[in-house]
Amino acid sequence: MNRPPTPLLEVRGLTRRFAERKVFEQVSFALARGEIVSLVGPSGCGKSTLLRAVAGLDSSATGTVLTDGVPLLAPSPRVGMIFQEPRLLPWLSVADNIAFAAGPHAGDDPRVDALLAEVGLAGVRDVLPKQLSGGMAQRVALARGLFTEPDLLLLDEPFSAVDALTRARLQQLLLTLKHARGTTVLLVTHDLDEALSLSDRVLLLSATDAGGPSCIARELPVTLQRPRNPRDASLNALRDVLMEM
Ligand SMILES: Nc1ncnc2c1ncn2[C@@H]1O[C@H](COP(=O)(O)OP(=O)(O)O)[C@@H](O)[C@H]1O
Ligand SMILES: [Mg+2]
Repeated sequence: MNRPPTPLLEVRGLTRRFAERKVFEQVSFALARGEIVSLVGPSGCGKSTLLRAVAGLDSSATGTVLTDGVPLLAPSPRVGMIFQEPRLLPWLSVADNIAFAAGPHAGDDPRVDALLAEVGLAGVRDVLPKQLSGGMAQRVALARGLFTEPDLLLLDEPFSAVDALTRARLQQLLLTLKHARGTTVLLVTHDLDEALSLSDRVLLLSATDAGGPSCIARELPVTLQRPRNPRDASLNALRDVLMEM
């Protein structure tokens, strides 16, 4: 008998409490290899906390996180993480920042120039972060997140601090990188249009009763072919469903 393939990411019964307050409870979901899934939900519902737990950065969360069927107990080079701010080290060059996983001055690594070209930044390898625009800095953060060639990329509102045009370009870049590499992507965003234009599926993290812990309240597949028109009627219908919740 054919068994279903092992998910690239499987989250089982994840719960996190701070003192008396449970932020989320018994959160379970899975991502197939190569999927791009968005996690949306109101501010404060626990998206960032959940993503940190999935990344193995939160030893106080209970439950199980498996990558390729193997428990993920600590941060791993197989899992890349990208935040809202680029979080570059200001005293290191762009190249040294990108290759930081290999050591503090590993910028000569041959993968760096290839990554810079991939994120559209050839020519800035020796520049310091303060000389970059916000969009360029976030491209460097993407390159750094991909340096270890992760199977899974976790992004926490990665494009919410840049202007709309830069955001659209970075969203397109994420899709291009994802398709070139086959990386599986879990994207936290509060922007429903971003979720609907990029994802294969949208997970809604939300409390079922006021003040209670969040859980996955809804899961919506988005089957529309890419490139997607944000004004497509089927996306409008999905947006209405999410807004209503
Ligand atoms: N270190 C912490 N100590 C206490 N409460 C926290 C801590 N980190 C997050 N929280 C609480 O957990 C909830 C979820 O936060 P967060 O994951 O940042 O939400 P989101 O990313 O969805 O906006 C918030 O109510 C926040 O106050
Ligand atoms: Mg957050």
